[in-house]
Amino acid sequence: MILVTGAKGQLGGEVCSRLKQTNKAVLGIDKDDLDLTDAKAVAAFFAAHADIDAVIHCAAYTAVDKAEDDPALCFAVNRDATETLARRCGDTIKLLYVSTDYVFGTDDDRYHETTDEKHPLSVYGASKSEGEDAVRKHCSRHFIVRTSWVFGNKDTNFIATMLRLSETHDTLSVVADQVGSPTDARDLAALLCEMIGTDAFGVYHATNEGVCSWYELACEVFRLAGKNVRVLPVTTAQYGAKAKRPLNSRLSKRSLDDAGFQRLRPWREAVAEYVRSLTERTQ
Ligand SMILES: NC(=O)c1ccc[n+]([C@@H]2O[C@H](COP(=O)([O-])OP(=O)(O)OC[C@H]3O[C@@H](n4cnc5c(N)ncnc54)[C@H](OP(=O)(O)O)[C@@H]3O)[C@@H](O)[C@H]2O)c1
Repeated sequence: MILVTGAKGQLGGEVCSRLKQTNKAVLGIDKDDLDLTDAKAVAAFFAAHADIDAVIHCAAYTAVDKAEDDPALCFAVNRDATETLARRCGDTIKLLYVSTDYVFGTDDDRYHETTDEKHPLSVYGASKSEGEDAVRKHCSRHFIVRTSWVFGNKDTNFIATMLRLSETHDTLSVVADQVGSPTDARDLAALLCEMIGTDAFGVYHATNEGVCSWYELACEVFRLAGKNVRVLPVTTAQYGAKAKRPLNSRLSKRSLDDAGFQRLRPWREAVAEYVRSLTERTQ
């Protein structure tokens, strides 16, 4: 039985759907089923579900700016609850922990290798980084998969937000100096479901292929949706978000290649399909 946490989230939902499509036994849970910060409840849950042999841990505190004002909750979910899960998994249960480009914090233009030193700039980034450390320490059969700029069924993701704002704004300012890779939750889910069926434990980077800035992504979304919005490129400093974000989120896929996993399709293809599905839904 594969346990999926964060089953109502963007990625967890797609992971559950994918596992069901491939006829795997899956148990998807979210906060209202089990609050992962409650270690006693987690212990009781595992005692009651002795058939769990793998966990895909998608649950997280993901409000990056809000986390700056509530570090205690962010660390409780992303670090401490992850440690609780990792201890439960120990040497017997496989654990796949989804992590983030925000564990890095450089402003150069090289692709981060999985072995690069981490340097998180925000509370969220630090909490996810320490979650990774807990997984490494307490679970021997682990996968750590760092992804970035995820879009899926949540109406607060960047692409959905841009399309919503285009209904009420004819000009939008978008950050042009942060570079990374958009990631379709469905594409990533397919890879994670394949990975959990293997023993190729280790650290991976997984995003749709190619890089862009948020500004370039916004322009592409409006072009695809046929929206006549003026997009003004601004710097991270000018935009002034509460949490610091890395300027360089380029992630090397070398370890994915080395282990024989296929890279995800190019981001433009995935974004085009997603924008088409969103615009069809609102017509
Ligand atoms: N979104 C991105 O752009 C992005 C980028 C890089 C990495 N990631 C990583 O990818 C993973 C999936 O992200 P996502 O976009 O799918 O996130 P999401 O849509 O915010 O889903 C996270 C889920 O976790 C649940 N959760 C939060 N606290 C919990 C708790 N104490 N106990 C149990 N469940 C709890 C949330 O429930 P509530 O909504 O009720 O709080 C939510 O359903 C996360 O590990 C995230 O760090 C995401």
